Amino acid sequence: MSSAAKVRIAPSLLSADFGRLKDDLAMLEAGGADWLHVDVMDGVFVPNLTFGAKVIETCRALTTLPLDVHLMVVEPEKYFDSFAKAGAAMLTIHVETAPHLHRQLMRIKELGCGAGAVINPATPVESLRDVAADLDLLLVMSVNPGFGGQKFIPGSVEKIQRARALLNAAGSRALLEVDGGITRDTITACWRAGADTFVAGNAVFSAKDPAAEIAALRARCAETV
Ligand code: DX5
Ligand code: ZN
Repeated sequence: MSSAAKVRIAPSLLSADFGRLKDDLAMLEAGGADWLHVDVMDGVFVPNLTFGAKVIETCRALTTLPLDVHLMVVEPEKYFDSFAKAGAAMLTIHVETAPHLHRQLMRIKELGCGAGAVINPATPVESLRDVAADLDLLLVMSVNPGFGGQKFIPGSVEKIQRARALLNAAGSRALLEVDGGITRDTITACWRAGADTFVAGNAVFSAKDPAAEIAALRARCAETV
């Protein structure tokens, strides 16, 4: 990644302690997180069930961090209006559940949110070629979605390189995000491959000092430019 690119660290709400959500969000904000990543799962597209508009609205009231909403649901368009209203800054949808991807991305933009597209580990980067110029964010999954705390799939690094090349070829200024298994050990290779935005759930929330962990993750990128 070029030295001009800003590193964004997006801790995942999935790993937060919901008994003390207000404190956790304040801690992330004070600790220098750039975004809050919100994993919406429907128990159909992925084998887990998480949050809806009410939780997004609650987070919106508790933090000033932009809410980076990752929709792991079938028929994601059903939720665009309510999630935009609840305060999502970014709505990112899976190519695997979006047969009318271009229309769906345009609708997200109409609602005033950033429009993101995400690909599972088995989905080729090439599937985003024809919408690359329309994206505000391209998200490469580096685990199979559904759960926090999984192991990073090593082939994701090369996939990030291909995603970076695709965005560059399209003249797109989209952010390139990576999600799943990001730790001090995996983040540097992703940054070098061209990612600029990093979701981190387990790494941040299982650390003794989450704020220090956010700083350490960021430093692992800066070190290498
Ligand atoms: C996985 C989610 C991720 C997850 C990341 O389905 O999309 O955002 O919370 O968690 P870690 O960083 O623990 O792999
Ligand atoms: Zn996610």
